[in-house]
Amino acid sequence: MEVDPVTLEFVAEVGHRDDWKPAMDQAVLPLVSTTAHPVVDPERGCLWSISRDVLTGAVSVICYDGTGSRVQRWDVENAVLPQATHTITQTRDWLVLADTAYKIDTEEVFGGERTVANNPGGPVLLIRKDDLVPGRGTVTCKEVRIAPEVNHFYARYDDTDGVQVVMEHSEGVDIGMYLREDDIDLYGRPVDPALRGMYCHGMTPALTTVLQFDPETGRVQERARAGDPERWWQAELSAIDWCFEGQTDPTRHHLIYLGFHPEAINQRAMRNYKGRIDPSLFPAEETPAVLVTHDREDLKALSEWTFALDDYPTSPSFVPRGQGGTRYAGANPGGHEGYLIVAVHNDDRFRIELFDAADVARGPLAVLAPPSGTTVPFLIHSAWMPEAVPPPDLERLSFADDLDARLDRLDPALAATAHEVAADLDAR
Ligand SMILES: [Fe+2]
Repeated sequence: MEVDPVTLEFVAEVGHRDDWKPAMDQAVLPLVSTTAHPVVDPERGCLWSISRDVLTGAVSVICYDGTGSRVQRWDVENAVLPQATHTITQTRDWLVLADTAYKIDTEEVFGGERTVANNPGGPVLLIRKDDLVPGRGTVTCKEVRIAPEVNHFYARYDDTDGVQVVMEHSEGVDIGMYLREDDIDLYGRPVDPALRGMYCHGMTPALTTVLQFDPETGRVQERARAGDPERWWQAELSAIDWCFEGQTDPTRHHLIYLGFHPEAINQRAMRNYKGRIDPSLFPAEETPAVLVTHDREDLKALSEWTFALDDYPTSPSFVPRGQGGTRYAGANPGGHEGYLIVAVHNDDRFRIELFDAADVARGPLAVLAPPSGTTVPFLIHSAWMPEAVPPPDLERLSFADDLDARLDRLDPALAATAHEVAADLDAR
């Protein structure tokens, strides 16, 4: 959906429901399973996204050109993403899709205990952008398999040396497992009821790699690896320079490691991952979160800042310094010259901290904080925009466009409510 960048109000859903072809054709607001991180193509002037059939795992590429009530869809032939699809990334010529380690447990949906564990690896699908011909409806892909499992990943836009992707692996992480009041933590203590609903925290040290894919042969080559056993669990979105120049020639990858938090690991998760978790790797006690700047080529740690043990930093965002080649670019793009903005949860008060992207070890250069006692609801990702302007006046999908005879399946009172909401939105 599209949101007004100035007011954060709802603007419109993107694309007619039938274009997305959700697995279950509910009467209104059907469940569309898609990526949380669609990408804007800097050269083709469109937004790339995914629609995934929750019953079969079949996937389609979605393209939105920024206007109108329709999106284009191509079903990807002979491939499935068996669990979920959180991220999509792109190079100049290729889209990269991958299975995300996040599994639905049907028994749990219907009230049972969660007993599944995420798959230890999965497919990566490489799709040539030139093969996404308007009107064709289907597209082929090159499928390769990787392990361990992944969540967020980030391609270098320049693909002259092959398709290079920073992969943030999520081995021993199950954010589908949530903490309950009656849960027992890693040390055998009852889980703090204040953590009720929070996802189970990481059970392994973090692993990040740079993988290079050859889309012709399917060969996968590991170019770099960051796997320091002291660094525990990355779950946030990392800070990169998202401008065209920065993605073409990235220099830095800024990662938050959340630390080892035994009070937020439950025994139910430990049971589900028995044999896949190595308890000898557990630190002697809880460890704090760390912000680390990695070199984008070899993933060497260049600079780091350790937070207080009671701080819970969230996804950092990169802000370029100066004015460069494009509207979005800084004077020296890539991720090394500018700032990082990090929202930090703390029970005393919420803070926003500003770091030097060239040297995070200096600590926060500036801190924005409300009066003591002010906190905000749990935050996962954030984003920086060069400027916030109201959305342009364009033709868009209206909620009324998605309402048709399928509404007849609803209780008449509910169907009437759907029409009222549609009329209300149209009147704005
Ligand atoms: Fe995400």
